[in-house]
Amino acid sequence: MDVRTPKIPEDGRHSFFRTKSVEQSIRDTEEPEHALKKSLSALDLTVFGVGVVIGTGIFVLTGQVARNNAGPSVAIAFVVSGIVCALAALCYAEFASTVPVAGSAYTFSFATLGELPAWIIGWDLILELALGCAVVSVGWSGYIRSLMDNAGWHLPTALAGSTTNETHFDLLAFLLVLVLTAILIGGAKLSARVTSVIVAVKVAVVLIVIVVGAFFINSSNYSPFIPPAVPATGGGSNLKAPLIQVIFGYTPTNFGVMGIFTAAAVVFFAYIGFDIVATAAEETRNPQRDVPRGILGSLAICTVLYVAVSVVVTGMEKYSRLSVQAPLADAFKATGHPFWAGLISFGAAIGLTTVCMILLLGQTRVFFAMSRDGLLPRFFSRVHPRFKTPYRSTMLLGGIVAVIAGFTSISELADLVNIGTLFAFIVVSVGVVMLRHSRPDLPRSFRTPLVPWVPALSVMASLWLMLNLPTETWVRFGLWMVLGFVIYFAYGHRHSRMRRQVTERG
Ligand code: ALA
Repeated sequence: MDVRTPKIPEDGRHSFFRTKSVEQSIRDTEEPEHALKKSLSALDLTVFGVGVVIGTGIFVLTGQVARNNAGPSVAIAFVVSGIVCALAALCYAEFASTVPVAGSAYTFSFATLGELPAWIIGWDLILELALGCAVVSVGWSGYIRSLMDNAGWHLPTALAGSTTNETHFDLLAFLLVLVLTAILIGGAKLSARVTSVIVAVKVAVVLIVIVVGAFFINSSNYSPFIPPAVPATGGGSNLKAPLIQVIFGYTPTNFGVMGIFTAAAVVFFAYIGFDIVATAAEETRNPQRDVPRGILGSLAICTVLYVAVSVVVTGMEKYSRLSVQAPLADAFKATGHPFWAGLISFGAAIGLTTVCMILLLGQTRVFFAMSRDGLLPRFFSRVHPRFKTPYRSTMLLGGIVAVIAGFTSISELADLVNIGTLFAFIVVSVGVVMLRHSRPDLPRSFRTPLVPWVPALSVMASLWLMLNLPTETWVRFGLWMVLGFVIYFAYGHRHSRMRRQVTERG
């Protein structure tokens, strides 16, 4: 068998764009040594969704963007971001209900756009999930350290993570990722049960912020609701400015109406995760019905909570004084309520644990799906004989994320996660239209409304948010994708399982 000779298959498509049929995708999941356990319900998925969506975005980034980009209008930024996500969610839901196989946007694009686009999206999702998990674990470590400081315990500086000026090893973030990796290897059902308790704590904390915080609002803090635009500090170096401002030659500014969009592109991080519900489709008992419910349900709940939290917090404390490390808790301290502040910090630290775990889970599932297709070594897609989990990919990626979490700081990574996710949204939105044309016959328990208009709007909205991210984020994203191409041509394309099958037949 010569796997090196490129062949144009019978359907006339170049092998880069050969699609994997939906039926083949589903059949692959049924091979016993590569099959995951089907045990999750719609409620599990919604808990899963809320469990990953509410995290560092609302607990940390709200304060940062209110202070730096949008003031009280950060609430509008959450609405803008929520709309972008809802449009993409409508596309994700149709795909997930049609192609219920592990791997999310990766699988969807393999079924519609072909092997190379699927590789691109899979590679992109690894970036989103791995860095997202690292970001959240570092945020978690910050909250834990703050609680430890309250109790008078201090970690040695060398193990206490990075500050704005100095880089140190973040022992807590590192350990968190390793422990979660071990839990995931133990089985998805166990982790779903653990997460449901933690999710309840997290939602309770968010509700406390909204309900209790509402009593401490001072309406003068809302004026101005949209602070007037001011030139960006630091002379507005081109690399730090949003790409849209660079393209159109604006002087980079913060606040004003443009500031709302910059803020929307950053707080977008707070919504990341609803798409990950789709990565668990293969482990769901009734994916056609339950996956769309899980995706749209968790997105709706989170949007309402985010807008409410940001309205309350910017009403409690002047936006320019909000803390950037723990804004929700510190707003309570600032209004003289340290008890509530402590409780919120505690709940936030617990809640961030599930976010981190589910991001890690989603990532290992994408890697698993790519490995099962031969684009990454097949060695990684063996499931554990007893736990039925892809333990090899989980161990490898858990180890890498632990190291990244130990050595990196948050802010720029979050932008990189956002651009990767928005790019995946675009591919999925295009894919939904293509699949309607190429496979109109497939049963779809959920259909995106108003095709092609909703997918087209989703593409434009996602692109708009991407353009509002810093130029340097685009450069980093470009470098990651170039690395992906190198690996694909050096390994994935030669070892692709589908390519081998076609070559053997031919
Ligand atoms: N949406 C998740 C968070 O905000 C990733 O932490």
